[in-house]
Amino acid sequence: MKIGVPSEIKKDEYRVALTPAGTRELVDGGHEVYVQKGAGEGSAIIDDAYVAQGATILPDADAVFGEAQMIVKVKEPQPVEVARLEPRHTLFTYLHLAADTELTHGLAKSGATCIAYETVEDSKGRLPLLAPMSEVAGKIATQAGAFMLEKPLGGRGILLGGVPGVAAANVMVIGGGVVGMNAAFIALGMEASVSVYDRNIDRLRELDIAFGGRADTLFASTLSIEEQLPEVDLVIGAVLVHGAKAPHVITREQLALMKRQAVLVDVSIDQGGCFETSRPTTHSDPTYEVDGITHYCVANMPGAVPITSTYALTNATMPYVVHLANSGVHKAVEENPGLKLGVNVAAGEVTYAPVAEAVGMTSVDVDKALSAVPA
Ligand SMILES: NC(=O)c1ccc[n+]([C@@H]2O[C@H](COP(=O)([O-])OP(=O)(O)OC[C@H]3O[C@@H](n4cnc5c(N)ncnc54)[C@H](O)[C@@H]3O)[C@@H](O)[C@H]2O)c1
Repeated sequence: MKIGVPSEIKKDEYRVALTPAGTRELVDGGHEVYVQKGAGEGSAIIDDAYVAQGATILPDADAVFGEAQMIVKVKEPQPVEVARLEPRHTLFTYLHLAADTELTHGLAKSGATCIAYETVEDSKGRLPLLAPMSEVAGKIATQAGAFMLEKPLGGRGILLGGVPGVAAANVMVIGGGVVGMNAAFIALGMEASVSVYDRNIDRLRELDIAFGGRADTLFASTLSIEEQLPEVDLVIGAVLVHGAKAPHVITREQLALMKRQAVLVDVSIDQGGCFETSRPTTHSDPTYEVDGITHYCVANMPGAVPITSTYALTNATMPYVVHLANSGVHKAVEENPGLKLGVNVAAGEVTYAPVAEAVGMTSVDVDKALSAVPA
């Protein structure tokens, strides 16, 4: 198969969808890899590193889309990229279509087979292509929160870990999944006083063992969170209800209970935000203030550390890319039902029901849609 790797063109995006290691796996398997000139630069990967593993460098995106049968990307395609897609293409990338009606219609119109990283599941129903970015975002959340607590940045002016004779800051993590656990581990590493809130008792049991008594685990009732708010310096919001908008775990009214210049980090912002007062921000302007509380709500937190994020993402995506290249899309999705769940659009139809529902379209059975895609 011919695999194409275009440069990412979305603002503030420096990741790349394939590394030289992935190139090597594909080329060793008899496939051809076409990388756009400079595609790896944002992640400190030079063109020659791809060439050394057998890739061909092409001058621009038109050439890559023109040559390739499968396009691997990181972010959802921008309008100029959608215009390049044809029915012969398989697109493998993050899509987040439920939030983007225009893109969904555009992809359907292209006729391409579009597989979304974020809806691929593993054999245990987990999201293996979302998890690495959640690990990165969780670790950044605490770093960013610690930074924003510094006085010159508008924070309260408290050091997360304290010093001998002075108490550490209190960190509340709401949602103890992949993001929450990673955020908590970094906060513990910085010697903060940490409490993790979740509504899933089994998850709290797992966390309790993982923390070995170094952090408190608490059931996330409205009252338990409210009672603790006057004590906290940093709150990290990391809840997720699969397929749904994030629930609000802190209301505007409750901000009045908090210390002035305390910091809220809303990692769930890509699902609408889990604090009532959250709205998406960017790396170039990451915070704003509501009622004296600093809000940090960057929607693509892993974009800040592309070198780490590119390798974390491609470690997870590479086996799927190799499988799709070796078997072709029809056989690959038959062999891996979790990969089939990633197919969001095929042959002009939306095949992932929650997306269809969110954008007001009718979903079509994925097998039926794929039967119209030439092998
Ligand atoms: N902003 C970014 O750059 C970025 C990056 C990666 C992930 N995310 C987002 O972070 C969020 C968390 O992702 P994750 O991978 O950790 O998900 P996850 O499924 O691993 O964890 C979510 C946790 O939230 C808990 N939860 C659900 N409702 C709750 C409630 N009302 N109160 C307390 N806990 C509740 C669940 O029990 C679960 O343990 C998602 O919205 C994800 O999209 C954002």
